Amino acid sequence: MTPWWQTTSIYQVYPRSFADSDGDGIGDLPGIIDKLDYIKDLGFGTVWVSPFFASPQRDFGYDVSDYEAVAEEYGTLEDAQRLIDEVHARGMKVMFDLVLNHTSDQHPWFIRSRSSRTNPKADWYIWADGRGKDGRRPPNNWKSAMEFTSAWQYSAARRQWYMATFLPFQPDLNWRNPEVKQAMFDTVRFWLDKGVDGFRLDIFGSIMKDPGLTNNPLRPRMHNGFPRIVQRVHTENTPDNMVLAQELRAICNEYPGERALLGEVFGPPDVLKGYLAEGAGLNLVFLFNFLTFRYDADWFRQTIEAFEQNFPAPMQPTYVLENHDRSRLLDRVDGDRRKAAVLALILLTLRGVPTVYQGQEIGTSNTRLPFKDALDPVATVYRRLPQFVVDRLGETLNRDEVRTPMQWDASANAGFCPAGVTPWLPLNPEYPNVNIAAQQGQDGSLLELYRRLLTLRAGSASLQTGPLAMLEALPPGVLGYRRADLIILANMGTQPLTVRYSGQLLLDVGEVAVGTGRTTLFPDSGVVLQTVVPRLS
Ligand code: NOJ
Repeated sequence: MTPWWQTTSIYQVYPRSFADSDGDGIGDLPGIIDKLDYIKDLGFGTVWVSPFFASPQRDFGYDVSDYEAVAEEYGTLEDAQRLIDEVHARGMKVMFDLVLNHTSDQHPWFIRSRSSRTNPKADWYIWADGRGKDGRRPPNNWKSAMEFTSAWQYSAARRQWYMATFLPFQPDLNWRNPEVKQAMFDTVRFWLDKGVDGFRLDIFGSIMKDPGLTNNPLRPRMHNGFPRIVQRVHTENTPDNMVLAQELRAICNEYPGERALLGEVFGPPDVLKGYLAEGAGLNLVFLFNFLTFRYDADWFRQTIEAFEQNFPAPMQPTYVLENHDRSRLLDRVDGDRRKAAVLALILLTLRGVPTVYQGQEIGTSNTRLPFKDALDPVATVYRRLPQFVVDRLGETLNRDEVRTPMQWDASANAGFCPAGVTPWLPLNPEYPNVNIAAQQGQDGSLLELYRRLLTLRAGSASLQTGPLAMLEALPPGVLGYRRADLIILANMGTQPLTVRYSGQLLLDVGEVAVGTGRTTLFPDSGVVLQTVVPRLS
């Protein structure tokens, strides 16, 4: 039988901004539970919940201070258990988000670790002596994820440096210490015991670094749309990291019901597939190239072909157009909702596991917020950049802009929290027009398109497990592929185009004319066609 994670579709919930059940302006676990029917009715198979564990919330949950407790503002352990059970009661799966690479600097382990060189937790994090006479130069040239800053932070108490791949308040755990490994594996089991179906693994590719602290090669190159000056040969996707994937998988395999691991990893597809270890490693890895798509048929064809080549069945590509870190897709297509519809068609008809970020289904755009007021710690790093430079990047460096509260309806506070309460981030001012209630049941709305696509996908073996073959001889501007007996076509160009494919129309986006032996697609349109008439009986 095909395991659930191969055919599922994932809905990402960012708890702080999803639904506030107790009126403090912050989303919470009971709020998510209240909205599970919404996710289920849309047709998703899996809910991925971003971190809700105890945390000082400097990186809004990606800085954990206790992996086995729920942050007070989000609820209790009982709520977490109820969330798991309620998801299951609706026939869906649930994945939690594990931050294995680093903890908060407020985690008791780190507080202890930084206190001296001899305490019992001294070696739980990655500590090293500095260079230079007084040791005040970082141990080597490793850069943080912020690109321009060192990965090392000085601690006066130890007169040593600790590593922080992300931000200074997120010290990296030393996974080469067997006690650390054991403690983290215990946490994995803690949640598996409660019945969670799997985990999204935060910056998984960065966990195992070169123990010799070898300098990374200086080789400026673009990477996923961002410049990289020092390549991360010794700090990312190391062979030891691939082994760790297999160790974690072995833990999951101790449990019934195919628990699954989905890695947040960065790199070229031929490297990333190493994490899957031919079925013995992670189950899925995010492929983030779509986050920086060009709205262009040829760009999509080439990107999909590269993934198909590297992730043939039973491996599955895992496509992402949006998440809580990157610009909303609508802002990448100049707010053109027809293009957003075409992108939804592509995302949900490709082979693999699609992930949709809350709000994507109604075409939420980035909420423009002044850089200087940002709560996002990443924005504070780049705060000195002038706004006009930031505006030209085509990316948001203030992740608050994609994390504003979910737009449920047109009432005060968009139905996210009660009227009169101040939500933790301001609402997107578009919410009176762009909200779920306004699109629900409305023919032609993006929300209903997502529902139609997800319903089609859920009921179609061709879409879930059928092979994918690119269609040949298409006019430039048209993206086309076959999924078993289905044909998917999308006109991403600016002219009406006719192709020599046709079939029974299962779903259309934009303006199309399906004739005998040919289909005409107007700009920003697409179809799903069935080519073989199914046999009755
Ligand atoms: C990736 C997460 O998606 C992001 O939100 C977080 O800030 C970093 N990892 C650090 O944990």
